[in-house]
Amino acid sequence: MHAVALLVAGFGALGGSAAQAQGSGVGDKDYVWNEMRGEKLQALMAKGDAARGEIAFEVCAGCHKSGAVGRPDGTYPRLAGQHASVLIKQMVDIRAGRRKNPKMLPFASQHVLSPQDIADIAVYLEGLPVPAENGRGPGTALEAGRKLYVEDCQSCHGAAGEGDGARFYPRLSGQHYAYLLREGLAIREGERGNANPKMMKIIRPYSDADLKAALDYASRLSVDGR
Ligand code: HEC
Ligand code: HEC
Repeated sequence: MHAVALLVAGFGALGGSAAQAQGSGVGDKDYVWNEMRGEKLQALMAKGDAARGEIAFEVCAGCHKSGAVGRPDGTYPRLAGQHASVLIKQMVDIRAGRRKNPKMLPFASQHVLSPQDIADIAVYLEGLPVPAENGRGPGTALEAGRKLYVEDCQSCHGAAGEGDGARFYPRLSGQHYAYLLREGLAIREGERGNANPKMMKIIRPYSDADLKAALDYASRLSVDGR
């Protein structure tokens, strides 16, 4: 109940100006990708409780939808089945302002979640089924997309798009194409403050068409082997 009360209190902050510490991000000289410290480390070390996480997630479902399936139009990502480590990193980066997300920040702001809440939510979301009916791309360049994906993406994101929780690499399979494309473009343009520099280097020469093709392919990867 404690967590719910705190989360509900977060609604009140919507119109407020929650002052957030700006973590250094991509482009800053002192940026270190996935630096292990602070509440991320605490959340990773905490033992998450899925039942508590389910309750804490209620306030999030307004956007991410029940079952954390997100929206096929890409406005809100699917969180179901994502690796807990990835979810923790993203929540912490959003709270620190390193990954800019003004819509969500009031809900995830410093005053709302403890490292334990973050761990609880992450373990709850990781255990949810990955929905098979995600938003897909146009399907017009799938063979080109497959080649690019196999060559440039699968070493990190996995042959089946399953990602790698131990290395904080997100699962892409089952994710909505429109969201993947928005993030892919943001990472290429250096606009996602918490991006992985190795990935940025790989996709820098990608044209929009290349990125669309690779992500269309990724959005169609099977979620069976999750
Ligand atoms: C007002 C709408 C809104 C609410 C409420 C909201 N989110 Fe989000 N969330 C978003 C949006 C939009 C994004 C994608 C941001 C982007 O495009 O970079 C996102 C992204 C995320 C991500 C990163 C996903 C990924 O694949 O990298 C996580 C994790 C997340 N939200 C968790 C939560 C949790 C936990 C809560 C509740 C405490 C919550 N969100 C509440 C809108 C919201
Ligand atoms: C060196 C490993 C690596 C390679 C290679 C790589 N990525 Fe990534 N990718 C990552 C990491 C790590 C993230 C999460 C960024 C962060 O730390 O917040 C990510 C995030 C993403 C996201 C956003 C996912 C989300 O849930 O928000 C997309 C889309 C993406 N990658 C697509 C690609 C594509 C397409 C390729 C190949 C052209 C590629 N990546 C190659 C490591 C990699």
